[in-house]
Amino acid sequence: MHLSLTFVSSSLFFLSVLSRETVWDAAAIARRLVDNSTSSIGVMATVFPLDHSSSPAQPFAMQEYYASCHTNGSLTLLFLPISRHSQNILHSNHHAASLSVSSALPAARSPRVSLIGNVTVYTNTTLVPNRNAIQSCYLARHPDARWWLPEDDDAAHIAYWARFDPESVYFVGGFGDKHFIGYIPLEIYQGAPASAEVSLQGGLVEQY
Ligand SMILES: *[C@@H]1O[C@H](CO)[C@@H](O)[C@H](O)[C@H]1NC(C)=O
Ligand SMILES: *[C@@H]1O[C@H](CO)[C@@H](O)[C@H](O)[C@H]1NC(C)=O
Ligand SMILES: *[C@@H]1O[C@H](CO)[C@@H](O)[C@H](O)[C@H]1NC(C)=O
Ligand SMILES: *[C@@H]1O[C@H](CO)[C@@H](O)[C@H](O)[C@H]1NC(C)=O
Repeated sequence: MHLSLTFVSSSLFFLSVLSRETVWDAAAIARRLVDNSTSSIGVMATVFPLDHSSSPAQPFAMQEYYASCHTNGSLTLLFLPISRHSQNILHSNHHAASLSVSSALPAARSPRVSLIGNVTVYTNTTLVPNRNAIQSCYLARHPDARWWLPEDDDAAHIAYWARFDPESVYFVGGFGDKHFIGYIPLEIYQGAPASAEVSLQGGLVEQY
């Protein structure tokens, strides 16, 4: 009896070790969450400037459209200078921002990822690499954005193409007994296979 109990508990232990997510699993899950999100809307966080009148140095979070249009996991944004996030980013020396994406049904046991990085804004539209491909990739995800595209004189707001480059990737796979929780090294995240679904839907711009 004692022996078989030991056997059961040690094989359970073995199973849970076997089923534990590796950092590579975590990277693939995180990339799928971000790249294959049907809404392609994340929660962005930025920080108010130090000299802001009502919320100096306070964090600010609100939803933000993105599109995964690069094989390395950098994200395409439409940067509207009028928005609070854009103001905070422009006031940050490092153009810092963080973007979090979670599962379709967010729950404690479901994966979510937070990308911490910075934003490059192309105020000169002619300098956007692969501009037409970027625009089609973004519009495939966000058809409603056709009303506020850069260089559209009839658009409701001034807009610029921008790129968000993740610098750190923090992943919570679910409950920590089975799932990976912690930082995913950037090279592993950038090298993780992007979702095939994304390229089928005309998502990714680059070939790999
Ligand atoms: C973003 O961060 C990288 C270093 O990780 C830096 O080289 C680059 O200049 C930063 N970009 C902006 C717009 O601050
Ligand atoms: C935008 O970049 C192009 C190509 O370098 C340059 O010819 C043009 O003068 C720039 N436009 C502005 C407004 O700076
Ligand atoms: C990702 O790829 C894009 C397009 O090739 C490039 O502009 C960007 O700098 C890359 N990002 C990082 C963080 O290496
Ligand atoms: C991507 O999303 C679609 C639609 O939600 C889903 O059917 C498909 O299985 C997903 N692909 C991957 C690789 O997760």
